Amino acid sequence: MVDISESKNFKEASAECDDIVDPWIVSSTSDNGVNYEKLIERFGCSHIDDELIERLEKVAGRPVHALIRRKIFFSHRDLHTLLKAVESGKKFYLYTGRGPSSDSMHLGHLIPFIVTKWLQETFDVPLVIQLTDDEKTLWKNLTVEQSMKMARENAKDIIAMGFDIDKTFIFSNLDFMGRCSAFYQNIIRIQKCVTFNQVKGIFGFGDSDIIGKIGFPAAQAAPAFSTTFPFIFGKDKLPVLIPCAIDQDPYFRMTRDVSPRLGFPKPALIHSSFFPALQGAKTKMSASDANSAIFLTDTPKQIKTKINKHAFSGGKQTLEEHREFGGNTDVDVSFQLLRFFLYDDDELERIRVAYTKGELLSGEIKKIAIDTLQPIVSDHQAKRKEVTDEILEKFMTPRKLNYDLIIKISK
Ligand code: TRP
Repeated sequence: MVDISESKNFKEASAECDDIVDPWIVSSTSDNGVNYEKLIERFGCSHIDDELIERLEKVAGRPVHALIRRKIFFSHRDLHTLLKAVESGKKFYLYTGRGPSSDSMHLGHLIPFIVTKWLQETFDVPLVIQLTDDEKTLWKNLTVEQSMKMARENAKDIIAMGFDIDKTFIFSNLDFMGRCSAFYQNIIRIQKCVTFNQVKGIFGFGDSDIIGKIGFPAAQAAPAFSTTFPFIFGKDKLPVLIPCAIDQDPYFRMTRDVSPRLGFPKPALIHSSFFPALQGAKTKMSASDANSAIFLTDTPKQIKTKINKHAFSGGKQTLEEHREFGGNTDVDVSFQLLRFFLYDDDELERIRVAYTKGELLSGEIKKIAIDTLQPIVSDHQAKRKEVTDEILEKFMTPRKLNYDLIIKISK
């Protein structure tokens, strides 16, 4: 068996921390939310520091996306190794995904996809997007049919973000499994390397968990191996970069432990922090709690009401106190929403200073958040309307991607 070293270290360190962060639960006892410093230590990943950002900008030949510059993507595994490979002219591909547990996605779900799109445009590389309808059927009260339908609905939202049809393959596990035997073959190769004890340690599975859960992590690991997509990559074993929220790291710790055994480079990762629930950073925005989230289907009026009514304020109780002592942008959800979605750095800093000094009031910062988010959501809805069933079908059909050629030449 493989030495599940990254996973083992994690288990030992997690005993001392109050935050719960795994693929199913994110919760913190602190108003400031999850302690990401401790999380980095516990997970054994690395900071995305200024030096790494500088290096990334040099290799990319352009400034990094605001979500990276603001360290919302705060942690990584092996990004240096990947950049080194890129510098020496090697190609890689991108892999990310989404668990379709609701018909509508919310704003927080966009975050990894925004940065994935930036990376795809910057490096001109193929992208595979996994929709884990199998995972959601196993974990939630959903039938196979319901999850598969949600996967297609979610795929339309993802396509609406503007991914290039010639460079992007989107697949639902329940559908793709029947179309491509290489996928199942890699799943079995992975499953052969991991014991029940090991997945128990990584994911906390118990004796009464259904067997589907125990086997599932291999399905999320498989797309990190390029031979899962022979129609794109042939037999090439390419490096991969996986942008994801930090709660997905357990899957990829397992993947990284298995990679050398199967003759693949370990996947590189960049991790984002969580998008806060409207009620505050103790937990993340959740599709299963309508009041915690701003959905991509919300009307301008709903967005306004939700923020005014539910967005946790870092302002003071009374106007006088607020003017005197100022607000706390670290816990103010409207400010946090702006950090994720207002990309003008000067403007964001102006708002931060004014709010902290008490010049800007709680209602006023809420209004800025509302005015920023309403057009983003409306634009998204307009773009989503243009995604026809034919376009969806094309994205989800296993096929050659257009720069197959570029990869062959650059090798
Ligand atoms: N398990 C993820 C979720 O529930 C979906 C997912 C599958 C994913 N593969 C991924 C997320 C790769 C990030 C990267 O949302």
